Amino acid sequence: MPGQTTTAGIHSDNYRFLQEHVYAQTGIVLEQDKHYLFETRLAPIVRQLGLGSINDLCAVLRSSRETEVGRRVVEAMTTNETYFFRDPGQYEAIRKTLLPRLKQERRDTKRLRFWSAASSTGQEAYSLAILLLEEGFGDWNIQILGTDFSSQVLDRARSGKFHQIEVNRGLPAALLIKYFKRAGVEWAINDQVRQMVRFETLDLRKSLRAFGPFDLVFCRNVLIYFDAETKKKILKEIHGTLFHRGWLLLGGAETAFGFEEWFEREGSGNAAAYEAK
Ligand SMILES: C[S@@+](CC[C@H](N)C(=O)[O-])C[C@H]1O[C@@H](n2cnc3c(N)ncnc32)[C@H](O)[C@@H]1O
Repeated sequence: MPGQTTTAGIHSDNYRFLQEHVYAQTGIVLEQDKHYLFETRLAPIVRQLGLGSINDLCAVLRSSRETEVGRRVVEAMTTNETYFFRDPGQYEAIRKTLLPRLKQERRDTKRLRFWSAASSTGQEAYSLAILLLEEGFGDWNIQILGTDFSSQVLDRARSGKFHQIEVNRGLPAALLIKYFKRAGVEWAINDQVRQMVRFETLDLRKSLRAFGPFDLVFCRNVLIYFDAETKKKILKEIHGTLFHRGWLLLGGAETAFGFEEWFEREGSGNAAAYEAK
């Protein structure tokens, strides 16, 4: 029996099946009220496959979850929204507080390591690289790692090319002119910035112990999608990748409240950082 049909025309058992599929693949919890999201994001896949409905798509998926179709469904259901210098207060805190301290503490090795976990198409990692160059770290040994679950967004991140609409979001015109050049209808980031950043596929639910140690980890706008248990596991793992007093930066709607054993909150509002104990 197909079960009840929901407002978006998805049978309720198929809705549950899609929720479970996305959860199993990514850890992302999609609540009961996300019908419109499934409808709008899966409609193009339904059309491309010549199917009649999302229920038909579920039938294809049920026959084998590990297929290309299964991957495309997950990619479609993942929110990849990002932009340059998102939450400027955090970049200001890095500039004013973290970098002067690191400049002093690492003056001998001149070596710094950063991680943009859930980097999406790379704007976060590249914003940090640009900030470091602007702050005079051009002759330092800097490595910025960007990771994401989705290989699709990482391909774009690695290309270092951005559409006009993307460079219009958050990137000051002076920095666009200084660090990018025109590449057809896109803008390509320059080699100096690109060489500071490398991207790798990584599921944050896996063990993260092989990574690090880092001076700063961005884990922004991804923990909100996970359940409490997954979030706790990830925060513990990230703590293990940070230097003592290294910074964890979270998204505006995320906190490490309740994890005082591992982190101490520094600063306030959107500029708050969590310092590793
Ligand atoms: C909204 S974007 C955040 C981008 C960036 N951090 C920012 O704040 O602008 C969330 C990203 O998390 C990634 N993601 C979702 N589940 C993941 C997982 N289990 N492991 C790693 N990345 C994941 C998605 O692919 C997506 O690119």
